[in-house]
Order: sequence, then structure tokens, then C-alpha cells
Amino acid sequence: MRFLITAGPTREPIDPVRYLSNRSSGKMGFALATAALARGHQVVLISGPVSIPTPEGATLVRIETAQEMHDAVAAAIHEADAAIFCAAVADYRVAEVAGEKIKKTGDTLTLTLVKNPDILGNARGAFGFTGLLVGFAAETERLAEHALEKLRRKGCDLLVANDVSRTDIGFDRDENEVELFYRDGRHESLALASKSEIAAVVIGCVERLRET
Ligand code: CTP
Repeated sequence: MRFLITAGPTREPIDPVRYLSNRSSGKMGFALATAALARGHQVVLISGPVSIPTPEGATLVRIETAQEMHDAVAAAIHEADAAIFCAAVADYRVAEVAGEKIKKTGDTLTLTLVKNPDILGNARGAFGFTGLLVGFAAETERLAEHALEKLRRKGCDLLVANDVSRTDIGFDRDENEVELFYRDGRHESLALASKSEIAAVVIGCVERLRET
């Protein structure tokens, strides 16, 4: 199969030296790419700035902003049989990026943010993607309720959800504990495991969805 995987954070510039971003390390997305390659699949990995090695055999597309990730996905998704959206995309960007470094002239500084495109949310509609679609959800409360709502709203076949209020798992950790929600209503809780092990399970789920 041909996989498209988004990974890592995005960086939204404020001025030539500053940006808005988040704590994503890219480890989960890169683990998914490694797991898919190990199963003999082809992988296009579209990633924000990360400091981990590129899985051997993956085609890496480096981006910085959400808009760049959106455009890279739009250009590549038609070649994919399955798309996994693991990136922690910044939901907002600065409305007007300053051309020069912002000086600390005032006691407060107000930035106006505007919404970024929802890349996963565009997969079914704007991109017309008909392959298998996997989303991720990072939640701090009412995990199942939010995950199921997200799965339906974004047209996913599978949604991988985790509780980011826990400090022992998730962001920048090597381990995670996730729950899988399927479009047909099935639900599976995976025990605490390494991101490599979780990635192998998710790739296996996608392979089985492809067979059905
Ligand atoms: N995602 C995306 N583009 C965005 C935001 C999110 O592709 N601009 C993808 C993520 O990669 C992930 C999924 O959408 O697979 C869930 O993102 P999340 O931000 O948690 O969902 P939202 O719909 O933005 O809901 P919330 O209000 O909880 O932020």
C-alpha cells in the first residue's frame, strides 16, 4: 500500500526570529512511517521541524507552517491508499507576520490569530480523498465523546485518541496509551506501549480495514 503520513508540529511565524508552535516531537508519526516501511509499504512522510532521523526508505517532505503542510498534502494525497494524520498542526497562525523583529516597546503585546486550514478535515471534501483515513485526537477530558465526534466530523475510518492531561505518556515520550475508535462503532483500548508498538498495531488495523 501507499501511505501518506503527517507528523510533527507546525511553526507559525510571528516575526523573523519568533514563532508559535507546540510540543510535538514527531516520534509517533515517524514510528508509523517506520512500521509501514517494515511491512513493505511505500511512505510519503510530510513533517514539520523535528530532530529525529528520517526512517530509511521514506520520502520526506519538510514543511514549516500549517499552510505548507496543507499544500504538500493536497499535492500528494491522490497517490495514497491510506492517509494517517498524526501531525500536531497549529490551529491558528498570526494574522500579519511582522517583517522586522518586534521591539518590546509596550508592557503588553496583542497578537491577532486567524484559523489555519483543517488539513484532515479537508481530506474527504476539498481533496476528494476516498482511501482509508486515520486521524489522531489529543484530548484532556471526555475522551470517547470528543474522539467519536471528531471521527464523524472529519470522515475518518479510524481515530487514535490519547489523553494529553497525563504527563507520563504522550508528548515527547517514547510511550503512549491510546484508544482506537472505528467508523463502524468498534472501540479498542491499547495498553501502555512504546510508540513503535502502537505504530505497528495501527498499521495492522489499516491493513485489515483495506481487506474488508
Ligand atoms: N488536524 C489537521 N489540521 C489541522 C488541525 C488538526 O490535519 N489544522 C488533524 C490532526 O493531525 C489530527 C486531527 O486533525 O489528526 C485532530 O486534531 P485536533 O486539533 O485535535 O482536532 P480539532 O478538530 O481541531 O478539535 P479541537 O477543537 O479539539 O482542537
